[in-house]
Amino acid sequence: MNQNEKIVFKVKIFVRKKLKHKSSGHGYWHAYRVAQMAIFIGQKEKADLKVLELAGFLHDIGNDKDNDHEIKGAKISQGFLTKLKVNERIIKQVTYCVKNHRFSKGVIPKTLEAKIIQDADKLDALGAIEIVRVFSVSAAKKRKTYDPNVKPDFNYYLKHGVSRTAINHFYEKLFKLKNLMYTKTAKKIAINREKFMKAFLKRFFQEWSGEK
Ligand SMILES: [Fe+2]
Ligand SMILES: [Fe+2]
Repeated sequence: MNQNEKIVFKVKIFVRKKLKHKSSGHGYWHAYRVAQMAIFIGQKEKADLKVLELAGFLHDIGNDKDNDHEIKGAKISQGFLTKLKVNERIIKQVTYCVKNHRFSKGVIPKTLEAKIIQDADKLDALGAIEIVRVFSVSAAKKRKTYDPNVKPDFNYYLKHGVSRTAINHFYEKLFKLKNLMYTKTAKKIAINREKFMKAFLKRFFQEWSGEK
């Protein structure tokens, strides 16, 4: 293992331990997927891959109570990477990515790497894995899967921050994500993932109405 691989290895162990108790899709494997996606986008967009890998794994490290987890996460990341004697420039960039990863806070990131981390994080809310996550979170929170009498209502979602049914969540939040991507590469992936989700919903409604 070279020095960089050793650092990533230690970061992975740290993240796994810290996010051990997280469920609802924001645990270690979410961090893993965001890191892999960020690297993929970063290769196409010619960004700093070292920064992206570390920031991908660390972006939700402060996420134990959700509130302001980006601020807490940035501090934790800075402390841990300093302990590992990571290059100061990289620490600064990673910390910036972690601090500015939440699109829901309305922050427009200034660096390409922070834009890519936001994109990779949003992409994890689209596609096959997200379909599984939506229904499992919905069941855990005792929300309905679908109710034809409860139509999607974006204002309801804005006011309450949750959807009344799992199916409504696709329309009230997830299908808005593709227009929020910063990079061309992420936008392309988002369009493709949304297409897959829409095909799933088409079939769902066909079965619901006895057409298939
Ligand atoms: Fe987050
Ligand atoms: Fe995240």
